[in-house]
Amino acid sequence: MHNLFLSDSHPKQPLILQLADETATLALGEKIAHILHPGLIVFLYGDLGAGKTTLTRGILRAMGYEGKVKSPTYNLVEIYKFSRLYLYHFDFYRFNDPNEWEEAGFRDYFNAESICLIEWPEKADQLLPDADIKISFRFNERGREVRIQAETETGKQCLTHW
Ligand SMILES: Nc1ncnc2c1ncn2[C@@H]1O[C@H](COP(=O)(O)OP(=O)(O)OP(=O)(O)O)[C@@H](O)[C@H]1O
Ligand SMILES: [Mg+2]
Repeated sequence: MHNLFLSDSHPKQPLILQLADETATLALGEKIAHILHPGLIVFLYGDLGAGKTTLTRGILRAMGYEGKVKSPTYNLVEIYKFSRLYLYHFDFYRFNDPNEWEEAGFRDYFNAESICLIEWPEKADQLLPDADIKISFRFNERGREVRIQAETETGKQCLTHW
């Protein structure tokens, strides 16, 4: 496949994909699972029902998780433990109290042994560390358009394995 991320002239050129249905979103998650590594922070953007949790479900399945992938809308985070890492799936849609951030110990969740996937990061943006990769979903007549963008050197390195 043509690799946009190897181009020095456009080091941060986004990858744009069309996803026709839920199966395509799950398949993209599987592909992304193969390039993720501990320490990465991924922001997931898009309106309600755009596909952020579906993508996360695809990632978790590809990592070998066989249980139910719940949306963390009410708990703010779902925790998945793998043999060599933790995956934290956040959803900050209902987040409105910065004190909750400290009390819940979220700061500690961002570390070198964990992958953090974050839905609705814009609701907690003053507290969150910077993203390595941003993934944005948009509704269109053919399903969803998704845009994958490296934001840091780590993110860029990661996407060269695409
Ligand atoms: N590429 C696609 N084309 C059409 N429908 C899709 C596609 N991918 C996922 N869907 C469907 O769209 C919905 C996405 O729901 P999902 O919970 O993943 O959204 P979300 O972005 O996490 O929303 P929220 O912000 O409410 O958490 C599901 O019903 C899923 O079946
Ligand atoms: Mg969701």
